[in-house]
Amino acid sequence: MIDKNKLPVHVGIIMDGNGRWAKQRMLPRVMGHNAGMEAMKKIVIAASNMGIKHLTVYAFSTENWKRSVEEVNGIFKLIVKYVNSELQELIDNNVHINILGEYDMLPQDSVEAIDKLLSSTAGDDGLTFNIALNYGGRDEIVKAVRALYEEKKNQEEQGVFIEITEDDISRYLYTGSANHDIPDPDLIIRTSGEERMSNFLVWQAAYSELMFTDTLWPDFTAEEFEQMVEKFTHRNRRFGGRKEEDK
Ligand code: FPP
Repeated sequence: MIDKNKLPVHVGIIMDGNGRWAKQRMLPRVMGHNAGMEAMKKIVIAASNMGIKHLTVYAFSTENWKRSVEEVNGIFKLIVKYVNSELQELIDNNVHINILGEYDMLPQDSVEAIDKLLSSTAGDDGLTFNIALNYGGRDEIVKAVRALYEEKKNQEEQGVFIEITEDDISRYLYTGSANHDIPDPDLIIRTSGEERMSNFLVWQAAYSELMFTDTLWPDFTAEEFEQMVEKFTHRNRRFGGRKEEDK
C-alpha cells in the first residue's frame, strides 16, 4: 500500500531503450518508439489514477536531431498518431498537457496536432502531463537567462540596483512561474540500464531522487512504476540538511 501523503508531487521519466527493444526483435527503430508510445500511454493513466500531480517525460531532446531523418520524422509522426488516438481519453481523465521545449520547427502536421492537444486540455485540472519535446536543459537555462536579462536591463536603465537570485532564473525556465509553474521533480526515473541525466531538467533536478531500472522503456509497466513510487515514499530526503533522527 502506498502512503498517499508521501507521494512524489512531480515525477520525471527518461524513456530510454526503444532502439534496443526494436533491435532485439529485428524491427526498425521507429517500431521501438511506437511501442514506447504505448508504454507511455499506460504510465500517464497510472500516474493520474495514483494521484500524482505532475508527470514529465523526455520525448525528444535538442540532441536527438542528430539521428536519421527517418527516425526523427517517425517520432514526430507518432505525436500526430498519439493525439488522434488519445485526446478523448486524456480529456476524460482530466489530464492537462504542457510542452516543455520549442516545437514550432516540427513538421506542420505535428505542430497542428500539438496545438490541438494543448487547447483541448487547457482547462483540465487533473494530472499535468508535460512532454519535453525539442528540449535541452542547458538550452532552457540559456533562454531563461536571456529573458531575465531583458527584464533586468530595463530596471538598470531606471537606476535600480540589480540583483539576480535562483528564483529569478527558475521563474523563466519552462517549468517556472513565468511559463507553466511546475514544481521541481521529486523523483526521476531512467529506464534501460543507463544511469545519466542526458540534459534532462538539469536545473530542476538539483535535489531529485534518482531511480534506474534495466527494463527497456517499451517493457516498462504500470506495476513497475508503482513499485518505484512506493520505494520513493521510503526515501529520506534531506535537501542538504541532516536526517530527522540525527537532530
Ligand atoms: C530513447 O530511446 C527514446 C526516445 C529518444 C524517444 C522517445 C519517444 C517516445 C517514447 C514516443 C513519444 C511519443 C509522444 C507522443 C510524445 P532510444 O531510441 O535512445 O533507445 P536506445 O538507447 O535503445 O537506442
